[in-house]
Amino acid sequence: MKTKVTVVGAGNVGATVAQGIALKELADVVLVDIVEGVPQGKSLDLAETAPVEKYDSILTGTNTYDGTENSDIIVITAGLPRKPGMSRDDLLWKNEEIVGGVTSEVVKRSPNSILIVVSNPLDAMCEVARRVSKFPRERVLGMAGVLDSARMRAFISMELNVSVENTHAFVLGGHGDTMVPLPRYSTVAGIPITELISAERIAAIVDRTRTGGAEIVNLLKTSAWYAPGASTVEMVEAILKDKRKILPCAAFLQGEYGCNGLFVGVPVKLGRNGLEQIIEIELQEDEAAALRKSADAVQELVDKLKTAA
Ligand code: NAI
Ligand code: 2OP
Repeated sequence: MKTKVTVVGAGNVGATVAQGIALKELADVVLVDIVEGVPQGKSLDLAETAPVEKYDSILTGTNTYDGTENSDIIVITAGLPRKPGMSRDDLLWKNEEIVGGVTSEVVKRSPNSILIVVSNPLDAMCEVARRVSKFPRERVLGMAGVLDSARMRAFISMELNVSVENTHAFVLGGHGDTMVPLPRYSTVAGIPITELISAERIAAIVDRTRTGGAEIVNLLKTSAWYAPGASTVEMVEAILKDKRKILPCAAFLQGEYGCNGLFVGVPVKLGRNGLEQIIEIELQEDEAAALRKSADAVQELVDKLKTAA
């Protein structure tokens, strides 16, 4: 049986994820969307790209969930994107309804799948997917930390005029303005950036990382999709290839980092079972306090959810 990934929401992020999976020949892809013609049209366009890009992944599109059965991974990007002046939190109620509905449809057909949630507000939407799917925490993950870290890496590379390949960054916490970029654990060729960049410039990079989503929204009048799509594909690849790669992901914490029963972005080892291990790193007092503040912001949203726990 061939590997299959269902991507729900064939908008900007969903279509980019489908394209990324095909370009890497990670799996066949089923695109699902409520808008008639969009998943069919985008999957046909991607199928017609295949001869040029030389991939044999099969891409199909549907407005029902037919054809999604027994998917290995389900990526949920369905929902409304953020518009200028709108916070991620404003999206809560509408996207809760959408993500809850989508989750119930996909898990009926793919009860053994791994869910990767992308829809915002990310950490709260992960909790909706977990509650509705009733999947164990190993199989419900959220994409945000890979994106936030990629943004930080891009800014470090711009600051030092070095290859992005030399950069490494860790961003923990919820996917919101309270996220916690960790300069101490962010490196260039293994050297902590605290030894290479002034405290003032690091503070500017941290701030730009925290507001990276809004920076793009202000320019595009909708949210980003290239980096979010590529970041999601990195998670899909780590899982399908059982790479056991450590990536920052939203994971349901059960005591780790002092959080219990809450999705928060932390370093996760990703493999064929989804979440293979949560990596706990030593945090200094100020970092731990920032993570607690970020977790509190997630908790505040989760407390507003209507989906039964
Ligand atoms: P988009 O508007 O381009 O695409 C969303 C798609 O979802 C649309 O095609 C829409 O028709 C579809 N949709 C809506 N309700 C649906 C339903 N019930 N079933 C199936 N499809 C449905 O939006 P975009 O830019 O792709 O963003 C998608 C989501 O991802 C947004 O919530 C956005 O905030 C979030 N996002 C999260 C990121 C992260 O780091 N976690 C990064 C970027 C976006
Ligand atoms: C981003 O960070 C909007 O969450 C989305 O680009």
